Amino acid sequence: MNLAILSVLVCEILLILFAGYLVISWISQTPFYPSSTSKLDKVLKDPSLNLPEHINFVDIGSGDGRFVIWAAKKGFNAEGIEYNPFLSLYSRFKIFVWRLKNAVIHNKDFKKHDFSKYNFAYLYIFSEHMDGIKEKLFSEMSEGSVIITNSFKFGDLHPDAKIDKYNIYYVKK
Ligand SMILES: C[S@@+](CC[C@H](N)C(=O)[O-])C[C@H]1O[C@@H](n2cnc3c(N)ncnc32)[C@H](O)[C@@H]1O
Repeated sequence: MNLAILSVLVCEILLILFAGYLVISWISQTPFYPSSTSKLDKVLKDPSLNLPEHINFVDIGSGDGRFVIWAAKKGFNAEGIEYNPFLSLYSRFKIFVWRLKNAVIHNKDFKKHDFSKYNFAYLYIFSEHMDGIKEKLFSEMSEGSVIITNSFKFGDLHPDAKIDKYNIYYVKK
């Protein structure tokens, strides 16, 4: 195969992957819009934050996996739930490159996931999607678990604390 044909083939594959990514983003109605791990790092350093001792972290709608990798590098058990297979694949590739054994990506709808094993959840998804999993999260996660949402709130539920644009909720039974 000559170089020109190979280049066209690679471009076509990339185009198909990008089109697939756009279609799935449109179906899920929540586009991938990444947020900053360094900002969440600052929140974690806040002395008022009451984090559990051994952390089982989950990023709900994990996008390109940056928060899962960030959490795994801190030594947390880290998992991400991502609907978009292209983003899940890309996240898994990065996890493989970093050789992180404590990081997992579940390629599925977070509404169908069981959250009982996690005690620290991070969410950066639109309010309407958050309302859809509010009851599930607060009933499945154990007492004292921490849920941090970026920008958006759980409907009329007041956060226990607010640091910058992050809303902090503690699960109470
Ligand atoms: C705004 S992005 C945030 C990505 C990442 N958490 C961050 O902060 O950089 C929201 C992500 O949620 C994913 N998503 C939307 N609805 C979902 C669902 N029902 N189940 C799983 N993932 C979903 C989208 O594909 C997108 O990657």
